Amino acid sequence: RTKMFTYDPGFTSTASCESKITYIDGDRGVLLHRGYPIEQLAEHGDFTEVCYLLLYGELPKPPQKEEFAHRVTQHTMVHEQMTKFFSGYRRDAHPMAVMVGTVGALSAFYHDSTDITDPHQRMIASLRMIAKMPTIGAMAYKYHIGQPFVYPKNNLDYAANFLRMCFTVPCEEYVVNPVLARAMDRIFILHADHEQNASTSTVRLAGSSGANPFACIAAGIACLWGPAHGGANEAALNMLVEIGTVDRIPEYIAKAKDRNDPFRLMGFGHRVYKNYDPRAKIMQKTMYEVLEATGHTSDPLMKVALELEKVALSDEYFIEKKLYPNVDFYSGITLRALGFPTTMFTVLFALARTVGWVAQWNEMIQDPHQRIGRPRQLYVDAPLRDYVPISNR
Ligand code: SDX
Repeated sequence: RTKMFTYDPGFTSTASCESKITYIDGDRGVLLHRGYPIEQLAEHGDFTEVCYLLLYGELPKPPQKEEFAHRVTQHTMVHEQMTKFFSGYRRDAHPMAVMVGTVGALSAFYHDSTDITDPHQRMIASLRMIAKMPTIGAMAYKYHIGQPFVYPKNNLDYAANFLRMCFTVPCEEYVVNPVLARAMDRIFILHADHEQNASTSTVRLAGSSGANPFACIAAGIACLWGPAHGGANEAALNMLVEIGTVDRIPEYIAKAKDRNDPFRLMGFGHRVYKNYDPRAKIMQKTMYEVLEATGHTSDPLMKVALELEKVALSDEYFIEKKLYPNVDFYSGITLRALGFPTTMFTVLFALARTVGWVAQWNEMIQDPHQRIGRPRQLYVDAPLRDYVPISNR
């Protein structure tokens, strides 16, 4: 591995923490999970074994994979009382608002897995979050569209189970298309973990105070929602819809380049990648597969997205600032073709990222040198001064 690229000790010395889970080389567009390239995991692996890899550090052997998958299925249902919890939300509430509230409320149900000093309770809490996020995400969707909740079926794999919970209705069983289930699974892999991004750092910071794991994951969901972060997939599709046709691209490129205009090309740019986000290439390939399988190969938004990327990548502003498409640029077109409304896009991101949050939370909790996170600041306002009574102001 060191032959491929040298680790820059200087860089790690300025890093916010040490981790064994994910490595990113932003200049080269490299993403490794426990040393395995994202391209190989997405091509040959599945989300269950990537979950195992992120949590335990190695790809599972067949019996390990089977046992892990089985343990996850034992936690896919949520406490029946939670269904009543949903009726407190407005139907038109954004599903991410529902996710923040409902995942945080798991702390109110599962008292037997909140003692973070107990390895067994940490493991149960981890499995519960990985297992329940698809169920809660599907419930948020069903509630949003006014359809009845669908219970998980443990004989289906992770992605197929989620698609069925979202799209089955009592009067018509949803038949899972294996091509779409594979695409959903790969999309989960692409979003599983990404080093110390804003939401993962939020989970670590929350966890460093000893807060219970469900509350920490709820904090991560809240942070991910922002359009600069996980909310960008929804914002990117809304942007493509607003642009509408290829002939309007120059107008939006000009807006993106105008420093006085707050508009940004959604799905473009990255805090770390100053090269093409490797996940974006895989997402584009997945987009073609899903559009083909769902009969949307002439989706006009795909034409706009491909032309927008071409124009931006040949524009000196984007070249000079090293702005490339990121994982969110093509995901919206893909998820819409799978049948999801834009309001569900970030829920899918949160669902997949839960395993990364949980793996990083476990790594932090088990670090014997771990202290409470306490970022400092540079104070830049008034110097020391005496109180002035209001009569003298
Ligand atoms: C994710 O951190 C992670 O790993 C996140 C993530 C993960 O998996 O967890 O990868 C997921 O959040 C991906 C990013 C999704 N967000 C978007 O696509 C929103 C659009 N992107 C921008 O908001 C922006 O690129 C950010 C927020 C992602 C990064 O912002 P930065 O840190 O300001 O980017 P930068 O330092 O590279 O910017 C350099 C310049 C700046 O202009 P100047 O101050 O130099 O004049 O480029 C400009 C930026 O304003 N710029 C853009 C731009 N992104 C940066 N200009 C136009 N369009 C853009 N998209």
